Amino acid sequence: MICNLSLLLLLLLPTLLLAASPFPHGGKGKADPQVARMSSKPGDDSSGLLSSSKRYEGSSDLVHLRYHMGPVLSSPINLYLIWYGPWPAALQAPLRDFLLSLSDPAPPPPSAAQWWSTVALYSDQTGANVSHRVAVAAEAHLPRLPRGASLSRLAVQLVIADALAAGSLPVDHGRGAYLVLTAPGVTVQDFCRAACGFHYFTFPSLVGHTLPYAWVGHSGLQCPDVCAYPFAVPTYMAGVGAMRPPNGDVGVDGMVSVLAHELAELATNPLINAWYAGEDPTAPTEIADLCEGVYGSGGGGGYTGQVSKDELGRSYNLNGRNGRRFLVQWVWSPVVKACRGPNALD
Ligand SMILES: *[C@@H]1O[C@H](CO)[C@@H](O)[C@H](O)[C@H]1NC(C)=O
Repeated sequence: MICNLSLLLLLLLPTLLLAASPFPHGGKGKADPQVARMSSKPGDDSSGLLSSSKRYEGSSDLVHLRYHMGPVLSSPINLYLIWYGPWPAALQAPLRDFLLSLSDPAPPPPSAAQWWSTVALYSDQTGANVSHRVAVAAEAHLPRLPRGASLSRLAVQLVIADALAAGSLPVDHGRGAYLVLTAPGVTVQDFCRAACGFHYFTFPSLVGHTLPYAWVGHSGLQCPDVCAYPFAVPTYMAGVGAMRPPNGDVGVDGMVSVLAHELAELATNPLINAWYAGEDPTAPTEIADLCEGVYGSGGGGGYTGQVSKDELGRSYNLNGRNGRRFLVQWVWSPVVKACRGPNALD
């Protein structure tokens, strides 16, 4: 998703034209580039640099998002949460509420469910769309770090394998998506450097099944300026003020948007053979990659776009359940062929 130079140059162009500051969170979320890594030099960080210009609100003609014949998650989606490491309940609640809001019609517009409805515009060759129904089916808690406080990418799959083997989560083919959420102190390979989250599918040799999954980490203690933008901004963006997080925790509120990013891509490209741009399936540019850093109308090139503020000055663009508010990046709409969110002004 980060190796197609021609696509990246096309994507870079609008940013250059805007003469904007470089965007901080390279590779905020991405399909697991394990395969890509085999063909790139170890320690090669150009991916993070290039992906930094990979989002903008605009022109349809430059983006060739294509369908590659694989399935999307068209059955009602059962999310299985794996809380890895010591997670205070107060930090879990906004993340859980966000996921539960994705198919909750009650909150007023612009709502999280309306945000998901752009993801549900994607369909596969059977004519089935991504499901509007997203449920949190079960949760596993692993506060004592059974695989250690520092996970490799493959160890994330082993955490899932453990949960399935222990019977704490079921094997749910066709409907299940497994989300590994690492606590503030847990480090993950490439976290903060090349990724803030990733999604992929599990290998039968490691897990016994092919199941779509994603990892997202709490970056608050590690790299909020990289992974919790715009609630923290890197020093080179001096002059751009950090926004106040709507749920009061920079790491959690930043994680909500990365989680949304990964889930949108997981649903539309669960086996990395459905919706993505670029010719290289080992480096796909997916529907949320195209809109990284865009949260409202006019967004792009280091500007979030127009978002709202609550009475305490905290920024948000979505309403959710329990009166919660969230700030979540937009995703690419196959209908308007631009980044889109329910707080769009037109
Ligand atoms: C399903 O996808 C098609 C094609 O993008 C879209 O026109 C339609 O509105 C979608 N249906 C729902 C229920 O979202």
